[in-house]
Amino acid sequence: MYTQAMDIPSGDRDEPSVKSDAQYEAEFEAKLARGDFIEPKDWMPERYRKTLIRQISQHAHSEIVGMLPEGGWITRAPTLERKCILLAKVQDEAGHGMYLYSAAETLGVSRDELIEALHSGKAKYSSIFNYPTKTWADIGVVGWLVDGAAIMNQIPLTRCSYGPYARAMIRVCKEESFHQRQGYDLLLTLMKGSEDQRAMVQDAVNRWWWPSLMMFGPHDSESTNSGDSMKWGIKRISNDELRQKFVDATVPQAQLLGVSLPDPDLKVDGATGHWTVGPIDWSEFWNVVNGKGECNEERLSDRVKAWEDGAWVREAALAHAQKKRHRDCVAA
Ligand SMILES: [Fe+2]
Ligand SMILES: [Fe+2]
Repeated sequence: MYTQAMDIPSGDRDEPSVKSDAQYEAEFEAKLARGDFIEPKDWMPERYRKTLIRQISQHAHSEIVGMLPEGGWITRAPTLERKCILLAKVQDEAGHGMYLYSAAETLGVSRDELIEALHSGKAKYSSIFNYPTKTWADIGVVGWLVDGAAIMNQIPLTRCSYGPYARAMIRVCKEESFHQRQGYDLLLTLMKGSEDQRAMVQDAVNRWWWPSLMMFGPHDSESTNSGDSMKWGIKRISNDELRQKFVDATVPQAQLLGVSLPDPDLKVDGATGHWTVGPIDWSEFWNVVNGKGECNEERLSDRVKAWEDGAWVREAALAHAQKKRHRDCVAA
């Protein structure tokens, strides 16, 4: 039976819309004020849609590119257990990328457009993945600090105003929590090992501490995109506040681990009880953002190569889907 007519709702859609843009905007604002989610079919301002596409796609790209610095260590993990754990973690990051590309697609952009923007260098991903993972201790420190900073950034996103993004973040955050713990556990094991192993951990901490703090983005006074994002409920907590939460949570973990953090100015503020850090070298941050980090070129070329090498898988999946559709049609 030809049933397309059953999919067309009667009522509202047949009647011409009489609402003005101002009315739609007022409804959108009212939803935000009530704390309701904005869903894909809801009216939304164009700038809200574009901001979300930019943020969610950058986030998706970061998950996918983020697989590269760790993926290279899967074959070099020191035990079978560590190999399994790292494999599961890197696979999780692929899953995060897929949820996020799907969430971005609900805003009317295609997966191909997003991938093309990444591969052409037009779209950014998190600069942290342009640093090299030089030793096995880097894998632990990436889990502890980089995934730890990611959790701090992402937990408020579970309450962001766009429904598909917020829901994707709930599962992502649970998995990130496992990532952070496996990194810390790896480091605890190394710190109980030899003098050389402890030195390897300290060296990795020295290299990743400042870049991890930069993951929260520029200071609030210099963060150009934050105003609208705060107004629209996409961003709930400012860059500096999130960075502070991360520092306060991480310093005691460093003490328990027995490593020092490479900041001579790090101290507790007697008045607030918060840990304060020394000045961040933002010239390094912008250098890496602007493509001059140690691994920018390598990461992008590896990503493009992986996409090209995987073309046959995508083609095979499409061919299989077509054959299955044909078989199902014949059988029906
Ligand atoms: Fe992730
Ligand atoms: Fe992660």
